[in-house]
Amino acid sequence: MHAHPLNIAHRGARAHAPENTLAAARLAHACKADMWELDTCLTKDGHLVVIHDDTLERTTDVAKRSEFADRAPWPVDAFTLEEIRSLDAGSWFGEKDPFGTVASGEVAAADIASFKGEKIPTLEEALRLTKYLAWRVNVEIKSHSGLAGHATVTREVVASIKKMEMEDSVLVSSFQHVYLREAAALLPAAPRAALVEKPAPGVASPSGRNAGTAVVVSLTAEEAAAMCATAKSAFLHPDKSFLDAAFVAALRDKGHAINVWTVNTPEDLRRMVEYGVHGIITDFPARLHAML
Ligand code: G3P
Ligand code: CA
Repeated sequence: MHAHPLNIAHRGARAHAPENTLAAARLAHACKADMWELDTCLTKDGHLVVIHDDTLERTTDVAKRSEFADRAPWPVDAFTLEEIRSLDAGSWFGEKDPFGTVASGEVAAADIASFKGEKIPTLEEALRLTKYLAWRVNVEIKSHSGLAGHATVTREVVASIKKMEMEDSVLVSSFQHVYLREAAALLPAAPRAALVEKPAPGVASPSGRNAGTAVVVSLTAEEAAAMCATAKSAFLHPDKSFLDAAFVAALRDKGHAINVWTVNTPEDLRRMVEYGVHGIITDFPARLHAML
């Protein structure tokens, strides 16, 4: 067990900057996070970009762009990299205030203005910034089940990591455990983490591009260790609702470390520190840093 858990900024410092942008990464680094987490998926023309959702609507201005009106609901894989790079991925943060940090005054007006025009980064840009900062990053490969990129996305991610010579500063994770087995074969030096979540209310198992991802109602430490072994991953990345102190200790005894997500409230952060998890993935890295 670490004396302190790793402070892992979820999609960057996403409570105070637009998620999955270089601005959010820089802010997380300034907040003294130990590393950041990002999501990556393929564009229509096969480039890796950093974005969480299947579609561009929530985190860009695509819905305001008349030339793209006929492409609603704007799936990421229906757009080329050039088109995606023309979008504003920063202004929405000040407009939607997703964590209430704009209304509360925690985010300065000058910062909100500076987010305007922020681009969706390519994975390579995100890796380059991480390397420049001598920092670390958790690259979550989003599921491409049923899409053209399903067979190639891991290879593309590995190629980017190799090109940037960042095997030692990247942690690869996915809910699609086949990608982790592929990564183990293609880039054994980079550590891997098996993501697991509980089913959404009323949804027995995910469909569409998330088909085949790791979703379970409950998880014993034995089952979690078996899941890690099958996914060729030293780390387990569970939703926080799976955890109690006994589970964390038992999995640690089996040689696996836990980075838990997404932990935000002071009470939950404190509880996860007490459980002795290896790392905490949080939208509020400054809050966690102040606590540690
Ligand atoms: O990697 C932890 C967490 O980010 C997984 O869920 O939906 O936020 O990508 P999600
Ligand atoms: Ca993620």
